[in-house]
Amino acid sequence: MPTRRNAPLTVVNVVGARPNFVKIASLMAAYRVTDAIEPVLVHTGQHYDQTMSDAFFRDLAIPAPDVNLGVGSGSHAVQTAEIMKAFETVMIERQPDAVLVVGDVNSTVACGLVAVKLGTPVIHVEAGLRSGDRSMPEEINRVLTDALSDLLFCTEQAGVDNLAREGIDPDKVFLVGNVMVDTLLAHRQRAEESSVLDDLGLAAGTYGALTLHRPSNVDDSTILAGVVDAVAEIQDVLRLVIPLHPRLAAALATAGLAERLNAMPGVRTTPPLGYLDFLKLMAEAKVVLTDSGGIQEETTILGVPCLTLRDNTERPVTVELGTNRLVGRQPARILSAFHDVLAKPPGGSIPPLWDGKTAERIVETLAAML
Ligand code: UD1
Repeated sequence: MPTRRNAPLTVVNVVGARPNFVKIASLMAAYRVTDAIEPVLVHTGQHYDQTMSDAFFRDLAIPAPDVNLGVGSGSHAVQTAEIMKAFETVMIERQPDAVLVVGDVNSTVACGLVAVKLGTPVIHVEAGLRSGDRSMPEEINRVLTDALSDLLFCTEQAGVDNLAREGIDPDKVFLVGNVMVDTLLAHRQRAEESSVLDDLGLAAGTYGALTLHRPSNVDDSTILAGVVDAVAEIQDVLRLVIPLHPRLAAALATAGLAERLNAMPGVRTTPPLGYLDFLKLMAEAKVVLTDSGGIQEETTILGVPCLTLRDNTERPVTVELGTNRLVGRQPARILSAFHDVLAKPPGGSIPPLWDGKTAERIVETLAAML
């Protein structure tokens, strides 16, 4: 890392998509306690809707971005390339000492690649996670971002082990815990005050929540129809709230499944919810069904049973210690796991270092590099 004794280190922090906002919130708060680092916040604009972006900045009191690249949606190549072009200009103008990227979205790898090519150190928060499934765009983003990073902060031991297996110098790798958990713990109290259950006419513990947005689930109409079949059965037993990611809303319409879902008496679809409302919805749910990565971690902290509609997870600690179970996408398997969980909710424990102090540990480590 660069050595500049008296001036603060300028770190450009990159966010682009919804889960990034949750992760950066605790880091931006932790920077306030040091004068060794001057953070700059760059939003790529990968997510741009009010519900997918602005609502998170407001709920999580994230400072307004210093720069918004306004890139928006596109194919993987177009989105990644547009982010790279716009971010390179910002890098040349600002000449930061380091670039910090979080998670595994296209913005993460795009900005990491620009920074390393300009000779600027790259810091990756949430490094080392591997699903082993190269058909997931996020898996490619993870492998590439870790390969080009200079400092790698891991949420769980599996991440450290994966990086060692890939030949990454262990001196660059730090097991620090989970910044998404920091954010959850910091906002849990405020989330309790959310009126979301009243707004939806729900009582605590009497409903389930479902989210789905992965291309492998929603863009394949056969798989999506199978999940909708499972939903039809589940909502007979337990009311289900389904906040619709734009990708899911579009896929349901294209597959002709939206009307069927909306006609189910036990299903309530909503637009994407803000952070505090969704946290409250998860915390009081009987069960959460999802294909999200972050929700597997959040339900583990909340002690709420989670059924993950995937065949693999890059977050194995949520299964080993937490409340998560991998149930795939076959309707029969989803239903059988659902009934098991209702009959006998899984117990769970909190993974090591998921204590709400991860961002502090990261900022201390960065400051020590000065
Ligand atoms: C992205 C991430 C994924 C992450 C997810 C969280 C990649 C490759 N994927 O997936 O890892 O789990 O964010 O949500 O980076 N759209 C809107 N409004 C928005 C943003 C998107 O309507 O504010 C629509 C657009 O039609 C767009 C589609 O959603 O084409 C997908 O958005 P995109 O950012 O490409 O990927 P996500 O599926 O959101």
